[in-house]
Amino acid sequence: MIDKYYLTTAIDYVNGAPHIGHAYEKILTDIIARHYSLRTDNLFFLTGTDEHGIKIQKTAASQGITPKELCDMNSQKFKDAWSALDVKYNRFIRTTDEDHEKIVQKIFQKLKDKGAIYKHEYEGWYCQGCECFLNPKDLTEDGLCPDHMKKPDIVKEENYFFKLTDYKDAIIKHIKEHPDFIVPSFRANEVINQLEDIQDISVSRSKENVGWGIDILDDPEQSIYVWIDALSNYITALGYDPDGNSSEQFKKLWPVDVHVIGKDILKFHAIYWPAILLALDLPLPKHIFAHGWITIDETKMSKSLGNVVSPTSVLENFELSTPDAFRYYMATSAPCGRDGNYSDQDFKEKVNAHLANSMGNLLNRSLSMLVKYFDGEIKEEFLTNRSKEAESLIKTTLGTVKIVENHFNHFEIQEAAQEIISIVDAANKFVTDNAPWTLAKEEKMTECGQVLATVLEVMCVISSLIYPYCPNIAQDMAKQLSYDISTKYDDITTSNIKVGKLISKEDIHPVFLRVDSELADKTKAKV
Ligand code: ME8
Ligand code: MG
Repeated sequence: MIDKYYLTTAIDYVNGAPHIGHAYEKILTDIIARHYSLRTDNLFFLTGTDEHGIKIQKTAASQGITPKELCDMNSQKFKDAWSALDVKYNRFIRTTDEDHEKIVQKIFQKLKDKGAIYKHEYEGWYCQGCECFLNPKDLTEDGLCPDHMKKPDIVKEENYFFKLTDYKDAIIKHIKEHPDFIVPSFRANEVINQLEDIQDISVSRSKENVGWGIDILDDPEQSIYVWIDALSNYITALGYDPDGNSSEQFKKLWPVDVHVIGKDILKFHAIYWPAILLALDLPLPKHIFAHGWITIDETKMSKSLGNVVSPTSVLENFELSTPDAFRYYMATSAPCGRDGNYSDQDFKEKVNAHLANSMGNLLNRSLSMLVKYFDGEIKEEFLTNRSKEAESLIKTTLGTVKIVENHFNHFEIQEAAQEIISIVDAANKFVTDNAPWTLAKEEKMTECGQVLATVLEVMCVISSLIYPYCPNIAQDMAKQLSYDISTKYDDITTSNIKVGKLISKEDIHPVFLRVDSELADKTKAKV
């Protein structure tokens, strides 16, 4: 067992409703959390919403409501979506929460007192989409922000600046000495290159230009600009106190084990955030996991294209009673750190093949045969003196438990799922090769029972392994196997099937029903 695990997602901007890209990140994080919940008794999963800044202010104004009203309304939509997707966090932080705002003010003050923040007259290109000043050399040939394809505003202000340059060498050194700090490692070079020409960053805006932000305690003309506010959520949420009175929870959980974020905000997490932490004399995150981006039918999602898909609309369109299939599909849509894609057709084919045909069906027919031939009972001789193939399947299954654990240590969520499905395939092959129905016909009842008991033991392990992805299906599988789904990771073995009556005919039911093909043709609900 591990003594603690603390993990976070990015906090989402609330100027719109959640889409499938936001959902991808929260699902990945929830899967990592559920996996680690089997490896520690002390897990903390933080998510939330990022609510200050010019974008929110403008969106609210355009809708004729106050920024706070917009934040309340949209923040609730994120909470509702995570609840529908069974994303089970410990705290949902909003950057408008009072405890957060107060600590951010103190953090800013401390950085200022230390001389890490200074005041400076500045003129630059400010992109509202990025909520940051852009380096002129990063603009497109037409002078547009490359991420938002919009012309940045020229902003001339006297702002506070954070001395990022002071921390450049320390961060480069940290990245080089900790090859697993940035995951996947192929992104580390990208960050080092960005560090090479880093400049001090603006960390405040004039109240006149950006009214919707946290006030600076001793300077009423300025408000704290989004990134110090947003990034600090990872420590304010736990009760960090810059004056040395941090909570027990903070002391126990910091440093964070992993920040799960999208590749577009890696710079903020791998450069700005470590610099702020160094300035506060706090230890750095253990891992920063930058996932890839999700496209829809191979096209980038955008409001102007009208192809933004809401996660809950997928559940509704396919009339899914639990989010498991969607979670499974999203989590397996891309290898670690690479971009993924969502398409209705592909969704339907994959979940039908993996969850219904391979995994669900295997459980269903094994249990049905156990009922048919043995009245649902496991006899003692089913569990001893088994064939070489049976022993080998069990050995492979236990090997997979370790392989999956290792993938999770490296945030390889799709890769881990592939290993689980390959065990399902191996178990299916074992059943086909050993044909328990033929053994029964030939009245080789012990052999027949041994084949079934072996598969059912493997299914117990599979239910534990698939649990983080598909918690509802896994619980249903475990129930039919009389297996405890909260079995800790170290205790997952194949000796989970007890001698005696396992199940009756009326308690057997499919754990996942095939997604109806007609439904896939319905037009997608738009956000
Ligand atoms: O960046 N595919 O908020 P955000 C995958 N508030 N991930 C996606 C995505 C897509 N199509 N679109 C967005 C912010 N994301 C800041 C974060 S953290 C202290 C502050 C991911 O609402 C994106 O990469 O623009 C980010 O990790 C998260 O959704 C929130 O994006
Ligand atoms: Mg964004």
